[in-house]
Amino acid sequence: MVKRPLGPTALALLVALAFWPGRMKAADATCADCHEQAKTFSANPHGRAKCDVPGDAACVSCHGDGKKHMEEGGDKQYIRGLHGRAGANVCLTCHDVTTEHESFRDGAHGATETVNCLSCHSIHSPAPRAAHLLKKTQPDLCASCHQGQAASLRDKPYKHHVGRGGFECSSCHDPHGRKGEGMLKLGRGGDGPCVTCHTEKRGPFVFEHVGPTVGGCLSCHTPHGSPNPRQLIRSNVNQLCLECHSQLGGSFLGSRPPATHNQNLARWRNCTTCHTAVHGSNQSQQLLK
Ligand code: HEC
Ligand code: HEC
Ligand code: HEC
Ligand code: HEC
Ligand code: HEC
Ligand code: HEC
Ligand code: HEC
Ligand code: HEC
Ligand code: HEC
Ligand code: HEC
Repeated sequence: MVKRPLGPTALALLVALAFWPGRMKAADATCADCHEQAKTFSANPHGRAKCDVPGDAACVSCHGDGKKHMEEGGDKQYIRGLHGRAGANVCLTCHDVTTEHESFRDGAHGATETVNCLSCHSIHSPAPRAAHLLKKTQPDLCASCHQGQAASLRDKPYKHHVGRGGFECSSCHDPHGRKGEGMLKLGRGGDGPCVTCHTEKRGPFVFEHVGPTVGGCLSCHTPHGSPNPRQLIRSNVNQLCLECHSQLGGSFLGSRPPATHNQNLARWRNCTTCHTAVHGSNQSQQLLK
């Protein structure tokens, strides 16, 4: 394949070829003669950026040298189709991002035969309006494999409104993250995704209630949808609190509520009417304000 700049001559040649394909010789052929993909490629980020070498060279960076493919009238065995793991490895020649928490190569969704770049991205036919060349918009994309979590976020009464206003599964998850710990996006200082948005819950507080001893946000909240107000893991607040602050003795975390807290009386059951600073306080050790 002779490389040439896409000047006026080449453009004229393209037009000519389009009108007289019968006269085309393999030596003059370009991908555009036979493939629509070439005609729209200048709008693709791969056409605009570094791979934007004029003409067919832009295709070659992914599909490999297409000379023989063209000589043989489009024989598939002479062109790289980019399927499966091998295809992902081609993407990774340019997109091999590896940080402490992210690895395009070793990610849970990375480069396996069943889940790879093309499970979520499409170079030539991304979903209309989807950013980052995604095949489908979220949450539908993720829902195609993770039905449970998607259904929970869609159907449960208390939830984050994923799919609206830029809130996505990927607001919390890093789709290229390593397996483990839910592939969560970490914010400044290694915090989990929750306090990236709910900054007022981040602390530090003089009297902590979220942290190493008590546990993180998920000790009390579900990350996806919940049947309980405030996405709590239990339907009654006292039940939630007393699982750790047991009144019955035996093993319990933290301290036991004083004897005044008679659970047979309704006024002592709604713990957060008094312990309003349940996420931590700078003023009250008992988290009362
Ligand atoms: C960034 C890598 C990349 C570049 C550059 C690229 N392609 Fe592709 N191409 C793919 C992938 C991946 C597929 C598999 C289908 C998909 O994801 O859209 C594909 C599929 C195809 C197909 C098969 C039909 C289909 O949609 O499945 C044709 C034909 C094709 N590409 C032609 C081209 C031409 C012509 C160019 C240059 C203008 C080009 N490609 C540039 C990655 C690329
Ligand atoms: C003479 C026409 C012709 C030219 C020129 C041509 N192709 Fe093809 N190409 C075909 C045909 C026909 C097929 C479908 C083969 C099949 O389905 O068996 C094809 C298939 C493909 C596929 C799909 C392979 C797969 O495994 O799914 C890719 C990718 C592709 N071509 C890329 C290119 C690129 C890149 C160029 C330029 C370097 C190019 N083609 C030039 C005719 C052509
Ligand atoms: C030859 C190097 C190269 C190869 C191979 C390559 N890419 Fe890219 N890709 C780029 C460059 C350069 C950009 C543009 C980056 C930018 O705009 O900042 C890009 C952009 C992208 C984007 C869009 C980023 C955005 O924010 O909109 C996605 C998604 C992407 N590539 C996925 C892939 C996938 C999937 C493959 C394999 C099928 C692939 N790339 C193969 C170099 C490459
Ligand atoms: C599970 C689905 C999924 C898989 C698999 C996947 N991606 Fe992505 N990718 C996404 C999503 C979602 C975004 C948008 C991220 C965001 O909004 O934070 C994205 C964004 C990108 C971007 C642009 C932004 C960035 O983070 O640099 C590039 C480039 C990219 N992906 C390349 C790849 C490559 C290469 C592979 C294969 C090794 C791959 N992706 C596999 C879902 C996926
Ligand atoms: C508000 C943040 C947030 C959003 C939005 C979110 N997740 Fe999660 N997800 C989490 C957290 C936190 C975990 C739990 C990690 C752990 O157990 O350590 C998790 C866990 C998961 C897991 C691992 C299995 C499990 O249930 O523990 C999958 C799969 C998952 N989420 C998929 C999704 C999908 C799909 C979407 C979008 C439909 C989504 N998530 C939206 C925060 C979120
Ligand atoms: C093509 C199917 C597929 C798609 C699409 C997909 N996933 Fe996954 N996802 C998987 C598989 C398979 C695993 C399990 C990987 C493993 O166990 O090694 C997984 C694992 C996960 C995990 C848990 C990792 C862990 O630590 O256990 C989270 C979180 C997750 N995916 C979120 C997402 C999000 C968010 C999206 C959309 C951007 C998405 N997935 C799209 C197949 C998919
Ligand atoms: C991208 C920003 C963002 C992230 C990340 C985020 N949230 Fe939220 N959260 C919101 C918004 C916005 C609302 C308001 C409800 C809505 O419209 O989705 C909300 C609502 C809530 C509520 C219910 C508030 C009420 O008044 O009922 C709880 C509880 C909550 N989030 C906890 C969490 C936890 C736990 C995490 C981490 C797993 C988290 N959030 C991650 C933005 C975020
Ligand atoms: C010890 C249990 C517990 C932990 C841990 C916890 N929460 Fe809460 N959270 C609650 C309770 C109980 C409520 C309801 C308070 C009420 O009804 O007044 C609540 C309410 C909320 C609300 C909605 C009302 C408000 O105060 O804004 C948000 C948002 C929230 N929590 C986010 C978080 C985040 C983010 C984390 C992690 C940093 C977290 N929570 C950790 C128990 C907890
Ligand atoms: C996951 C277990 C857990 C849950 C659930 C929990 N706590 Fe705690 N709580 C603790 C631990 C552990 C401490 C001690 C913290 C420390 O010393 O750092 C503590 C401390 C406290 C204190 C301060 C006690 C003192 O004198 O220092 C109060 C008050 C309190 N919790 C109230 C509540 C309320 C109200 C709820 C329900 C909304 C609740 N807790 C839910 C584990 C929990
Ligand atoms: C009517 C207001 C009120 C309600 C409701 C309430 N508390 Fe308290 N709680 C207090 C006050 C005031 C204190 C501190 C004074 C004291 O020791 O009596 C306290 C102290 C505590 C302490 C600290 C004990 C110590 O030794 O430092 C814990 C733990 C506690 N409460 C847990 C709970 C739990 C769990 C619930 C819900 C089942 C709850 N509280 C409901 C007012 C309340």
